[in-house]
Amino acid sequence: MKTIVVYYSRKGSNKYLANKIADTLSCEIEEIKPRLNVFLLFLMNIHLGIKPLKNNPEKFDKVILCGPIWMGRFIPPLNSFVHKNLNSIKQLVFVTCCGSSYDKKDEKFGHGLVFKEVKEILNEKCILCQAFPIDLVLSEDQKGDDAAFMNTHLSDSNFKGEIQFRFDKFIETLHKI
Ligand SMILES: Cc1cc2nc3c(=O)[nH]c(=O)nc-3n(C[C@H](O)[C@H](O)[C@H](O)COP(=O)(O)O)c2cc1C
Repeated sequence: MKTIVVYYSRKGSNKYLANKIADTLSCEIEEIKPRLNVFLLFLMNIHLGIKPLKNNPEKFDKVILCGPIWMGRFIPPLNSFVHKNLNSIKQLVFVTCCGSSYDKKDEKFGHGLVFKEVKEILNEKCILCQAFPIDLVLSEDQKGDDAAFMNTHLSDSNFKGEIQFRFDKFIETLHKI
C-alpha cells in the first residue's frame, strides 16, 4: 500500500501531526502551498487555488489529507487539493488538529460538519475522518481559557497521554483499512 500525507498548516499543529503520521508510516509527505497564502482572504472565501504538487496523488493507493478547520469550513487549500485531484485520488483519509472538541463536533463550527462535507465530495473514496482536538493537550484549568487555547500548538512536549493514545488507535485503524 503506497501512502502519501498531504497537509496544509498555518500555525504548525497540522504540520506536526502530518509529520508524525508520515514518520510513523514511513511514507511520503508533501505540503500544500496556496498560490496566495493570505489568511484574511481565505476567511473571505477568496482564494486562487494551490501550486502544483511534486507528487502525483495518482501514484498512491491512499492519500492522508491533514489540515485545520476555520469557521466550520473545509478550508480553501484542502478543498482545492481535493477538487483538483478528485479523479486521481483512490482512497482518502482526512485528519485534522482542530479547535472543536469531540462533544461539540456537531455544532455550527464543529469538525463533524466538515467531515460530512468531505464525505459528500469524495463519497466512498473517503474511508476515514479523524479529529485531534487541541483540547486533548490542554490541562483541566486551561480548557476554558481562550488564550491557552489559541496559544497551544502540537509539539513533542505536549504530544503525550490522551492524544498519543488516540493517535496510536488511529494508526492501528489505518493499518486495518
Ligand atoms: C480564524 C480561526 C477560525 C477557526 N475556526 C474553527 C472552527 O470553526 N472549528 C474548529 O474546530 N476549529 C477552528 N479553529 C481552530 C483551528 O482549527 C486550530 O487552531 C488548528 O489546530 C490550527 O491548525 P494549524 O496550527 O495547523 O494552523 C479556528 C482557528 C482560527 C485561527
